Amino acid sequence: MADLLLGQVLSYAADPFLAGVEAARHIRNGAVLVDAGRIVAVGEAAALKTAHPQARVHDYGSQLISAGFIDAHVHYPQTAMIASWGKRLIDWLNTYTFPEEMRFADPAYADEIANRYLDLVLARGTTTVCSYATIHPASVDAIFTAAQKRGMRLFAGKTCMDRNAPEGLCDTAQSAYDDSKRLLEKWHGVDRLSYVITPRFSPTSTPEQLAAMGALWREYPDCLMQTHLSEQTDEIAWVKELFPQSRDYLDTYEAQGLLREGAVYGHAIHLTEREKARLIEAGASLVHCPTSNTFIGSGLFDMGLAQRLRVGLATDTGGGSNFSMLRTMAAAYEVAQLRGQSLHPSQLWWLATQGSARALRCEDRIGNLAPGMEADLVVIDLASTPAIEQATRRAEDLWQALFPTIMMGDDRAVADVWVGGKRRTAA
Ligand code: GUN
Ligand code: ZN
Repeated sequence: MADLLLGQVLSYAADPFLAGVEAARHIRNGAVLVDAGRIVAVGEAAALKTAHPQARVHDYGSQLISAGFIDAHVHYPQTAMIASWGKRLIDWLNTYTFPEEMRFADPAYADEIANRYLDLVLARGTTTVCSYATIHPASVDAIFTAAQKRGMRLFAGKTCMDRNAPEGLCDTAQSAYDDSKRLLEKWHGVDRLSYVITPRFSPTSTPEQLAAMGALWREYPDCLMQTHLSEQTDEIAWVKELFPQSRDYLDTYEAQGLLREGAVYGHAIHLTEREKARLIEAGASLVHCPTSNTFIGSGLFDMGLAQRLRVGLATDTGGGSNFSMLRTMAAAYEVAQLRGQSLHPSQLWWLATQGSARALRCEDRIGNLAPGMEADLVVIDLASTPAIEQATRRAEDLWQALFPTIMMGDDRAVADVWVGGKRRTAA
């Protein structure tokens, strides 16, 4: 039986970074018709109620129905060590991250964290993530199995590292290739799951391992490839030492066949003009991780790039300090302000939905409300706390009503979540 969700409805007809606020479609008394896991219709409530009298009605009143959030860069294995104090990137990896990732040698621990992580993000309205696992193949099985159980569309891959990491976290060029290939063949395209080829970053991969990842990607060209790029200045200096023959950081990837459409680079803060031009030319995607970039002290992403290539938004759990895409939108707003740019609420919301979907090249399936799209939805209470409610009282349009929730909202703002056409929590 079809479900008819009633409420305010927010969708996008275009990219607000190119088309401005006119790109958004807001229906005050709107409805979304869902059947067999997909969105069948989006429109005025009265018209859809009349046209579909048999549908089961879910009346969300003045709450806002949107596409679910898409977190385009996370490390689910870092769930338990989120908000670890006092380090910058390389020290943070060695002190907190690698010891925690070592624990994933135990498949039972991987299962526990994978399930815990997905419950945490679903409670915050995130219906899809693109995650790094650890070097352990069982950590990939754990997150895909947990996502499959929940009916989620999810991207993930085995993190590959063959140097500058503890022995227990190192594979080799060959074993990384073999394990990645086996996992890719096991999971890619199964239900709503996609395998992502995942060399961690140039400091922890030899050129031979990057080349092996490039070779694998040539064999499976429709996969995404994710890695990190130019996050901190110390890291960039280290890459220069490790790859003296490379023009710049991006070149360490390009030289091994790891730059083209479908490449998804996290952070990408301290880019040279040459790197920006090559990324645009190659059709690569960048992922902005604002809570991480402030928390680890990395720097301020240039949001001007969103007009020139695919930019997604992400928590970078557990480098980021929060699981919530609302909090991440707020940080994106603050970071842009520090660069003299005021992102409009329509742009912030788009980044967390359609922008991330475009970065992951799945914008025809998720990240928007339109007939034929998969029915991953979040329902937002625009007055979820007294502080937010009083700030919205004089709102004259949707954006004034939504912005206090973007800046101050948390899991209490998430009234309901639908995954693949199925309702997940009670309203
Ligand atoms: N660079 C390489 N690995 C990582 C990681 O786990 N988190 C972040 N923020 N940056 C990285
Ligand atoms: Zn990361």
